[in-house]
Amino acid sequence: MTSDEQKRRAAEAALEHVPEGCVVGVGTGSTVNHFIAALARRPHLVAGAVSSSEASTRLLKDARIPVLDLNEAGELDVYVDGADESTRALQLIKGGGGALTREKIVAAASRRFVCIVDRSKVVDVLGRFPLPVEVIPMARSYVARQIVKLGGQPVLREGFTTDNGNAILDVHGLRIVDPPALETELNQVTGVVANGLFARRPADLLLIGGESGVEMLKR
Ligand code: A5P
Repeated sequence: MTSDEQKRRAAEAALEHVPEGCVVGVGTGSTVNHFIAALARRPHLVAGAVSSSEASTRLLKDARIPVLDLNEAGELDVYVDGADESTRALQLIKGGGGALTREKIVAAASRRFVCIVDRSKVVDVLGRFPLPVEVIPMARSYVARQIVKLGGQPVLREGFTTDNGNAILDVHGLRIVDPPALETELNQVTGVVANGLFARRPADLLLIGGESGVEMLKR
């Protein structure tokens, strides 16, 4: 079974955790694209969606799912999103698609975060996947120097601008043994908009698509 098939399994399993008639928070990425496709086949399940990226907004609109502004929607029942890495404690690295800041905002505004992944994303220690950090463009060299002091090797994501008009530094060489501490430390570097660690607000439920079905881990 391919990893894309595993992503699809996890995404379809997430539908069971979406209360009927709610406004659902929708993340970004290839796993979430399967979730949007599944929502499109159940047009009356949700009243609408709050999207974490321009890319997901386009897909939601194509599927005729009303897209609401987060400021109008208020607190959301559930947020569904993928991840680049997850521990079994449901702490995550996200932002491979560059949408981390809006993803963090929608996750923060949601009562429940359901994370959908294929088995390859589950790790013992975060950091093999380079940690994305969104930075204000004029601050990128300054922020990169601070990250080097923290032991990381930042690489500018060339030719990429976030939906917020910012740059991404992908930080290699980290072995993240205390994710909440590093998340806080990076947030305090002036010029950082957000970093891809979701440890202070981890997922509440992890659905892992695999060969023999979908494994569910709860926090
Ligand atoms: C988008 O910015 C990311 O946080 C994605 O959620 C993450 O990269 C997972 O992407 P895939 O579902 O494409 O693996």
